[in-house]
Parts: sequence; C-alpha cells; structure tokens
Amino acid sequence: MTSEMISLFTKELALCKVGPGQTVAVLTEDGQRQDYATAFLAAAQTLGAAAFQVNVTRTTAGGGLERAVGATSLAGNRPAIEALKSADIVIDLMFLLFSKEQIEITDSGTRMLLVVEPFGVLSELLPTEDLRRRVEAAEARLEAAREMRITSPAGTDVVYRLGAYPVMTEYGYTDQPGRWDHWPSGMLLTQGADDGVDGTVVLNVGDIVFPLKRYIVDPVRLTIEKGMVTGIEGRGIDAEILIDYIESYRDPRAYAISHIGWGLNERAQWRRLAVSGDPAEIGMHGRAFYGNVLFSMGPNVELGGKNDTLCHLDLPLKGASLYLDGEPIVEGGRIVPADMAVAGARPRTAA
Ligand code: FE2
Repeated sequence: MTSEMISLFTKELALCKVGPGQTVAVLTEDGQRQDYATAFLAAAQTLGAAAFQVNVTRTTAGGGLERAVGATSLAGNRPAIEALKSADIVIDLMFLLFSKEQIEITDSGTRMLLVVEPFGVLSELLPTEDLRRRVEAAEARLEAAREMRITSPAGTDVVYRLGAYPVMTEYGYTDQPGRWDHWPSGMLLTQGADDGVDGTVVLNVGDIVFPLKRYIVDPVRLTIEKGMVTGIEGRGIDAEILIDYIESYRDPRAYAISHIGWGLNERAQWRRLAVSGDPAEIGMHGRAFYGNVLFSMGPNVELGGKNDTLCHLDLPLKGASLYLDGEPIVEGGRIVPADMAVAGARPRTAA
C-alpha cells in the first residue's frame, strides 16, 4: 500500500459519497488484494467514515474470478453476510458478481463496488461525473427504446426486441442505495427478450473475445434465431476456437444471446490487449472503450433472467453501428447523440 493508493481510493470513495455517518465494509477472500483493502480502510477513515474488513476463507465453492459463476466463499456464512448488509457500501475485492449473496446484500439497500483490476488500470480509468452524466443520458434513451438494431460493414445486421429486461448502468462508482457498480467501467447494458433476437453478427478483424483476451483475426459469422446462436461459420482459427470453447461447457444454453449495450469511456483503450502484458487485467479497457458495441453470449441472470450457464462471452465490436427505434446512437464506432458524446468530439451525422 502506498500513499498514492490511499489518495486514489479516497477520490473514488468521495465519488461514492462516503463521508461522516457512512460505514464502509471491505470484502476479501483469503487476504487477496490486502494492499487494496488496507488502502480502502485508510481512505474511508480519511473521509470520516467508519470502516471494517470482512475476510473469508476460500471454500471449494469459491475461487474469485475462476470460480463457478454464482458460487462464492461467502455462501452460508450468515454472520459475514449480515455484517456486510449492515454497511452503507461494500467494496468487493473478491468478485461476488452473479452470486445470490451479492443480490441479498444489494437488496438490503447496501450499495456495492467491485474492484479487481490492477492499480495502473484503476488509476488510468478513475471515473468522472461527466462519464456518469453521459452513461445516464444513454440509460434514458435505452429505457425508452423498443427495438435495437446493430449493423456493420462486415455484415452484421441483428435486431433486439427490448423491454423484457431492465437497463443496467456502469460508470465506475455508486452513491445510491442498493446500486452495484464496477470500477473501472463506462458502459450500459440491457438484454433482448429471450426469443427476441434475430439476425447476423459478424465478428470482424479487431473485435475482441473475452474472457479469451483475443482479437479476432479471421471473421466469424454468427447466425441468430429467436435469441439463440444457431450457426457459427468462419474459415479461420477464430471460428474453430469459439466453437471449441463453447462446446467445452457441454451446455446448449451457452448459445443464448446475453446482454447488449455500448461503451462510453473515452479513456479506455481498444488497443490495450496488444500493449499490456499484465495477465491480472480482466479487460475493462476492452469492454468499455468509447463507441464499442458490447455484444455478449451466455447467461442472463445478471439482469433477472433464468439462464445461468457458466459459459459467458463478452464480444466488443469495433466500428459497428447501433440504432434505437431507428435513431443512430453509435455510427461506425462514433457516439452520435450530443448528450452522450464526449464534449469536443465531433459526432458523425447520419449519411
Ligand atoms: Fe458480460
């Protein structure tokens, strides 16, 4: 832990409106990221808040980022869960995402911030109020929309029927009761109706495959019918890898279409995977970069659905276009609406 870390975490907690009268709980597993935990506790104290740490032993069900989705080392640990619910905000350093425990804690009114990226990434992508403003402007448009269409010069043309699932924002901090966020981020997402996604997605050169952390080099054509991928075609290595990876889960629900949204973080880098050799990075640069269309396959429990397949692919599309009820939102990788675009950037107008 360094003074630089405490200083950065103090700025982050201030954005989360942590101050006198607030209680901060820091959650760790097997003492991992203890430098973050100690610095968050010190930062909370700097801001005049009460703070404590809950450290749980890793159980067979647990395992941080590598665990089975939905199973955590917090499961069944009533006193720890109750302690976390008693706080105003939980800093999650163990990765509770997609778990029942996370839902119980946030349902109680405790807000939650996930922090697992390396310090350099946190520092580069410290959120801003401007990012929140633009993500919330996008949220209002997405909530009002009935249909999303995504196209690209490579051949993508897919339509999502909206309205069945809520819209979720991520701008990297949280100051509202019960609200979850992830530092860093800068995106929003929703999901099409379970049987309401049809068309074609072409993963093109330069699009990214998470969690495999690969750029597509040989285009892959996905055929989508009633919310399921029914065909994966491509002459190169990428189609083979995708099919092999998905098939390894032996779960037909892995072919379901998952969340959909777009990135608004102008400081997140598309090129990141090519220039950073840090295996600890989980890829928030690649998921949140400005103007990407974040297409995804697999589970939908995050937004209230019933598909809890363990196979989850996040596939940021570079240079695609996205329309809400016919209105251009992203065009060729540029954000069009002025209230969503970075000030000073020239949004492209429809041709
Ligand atoms: Fe995802």
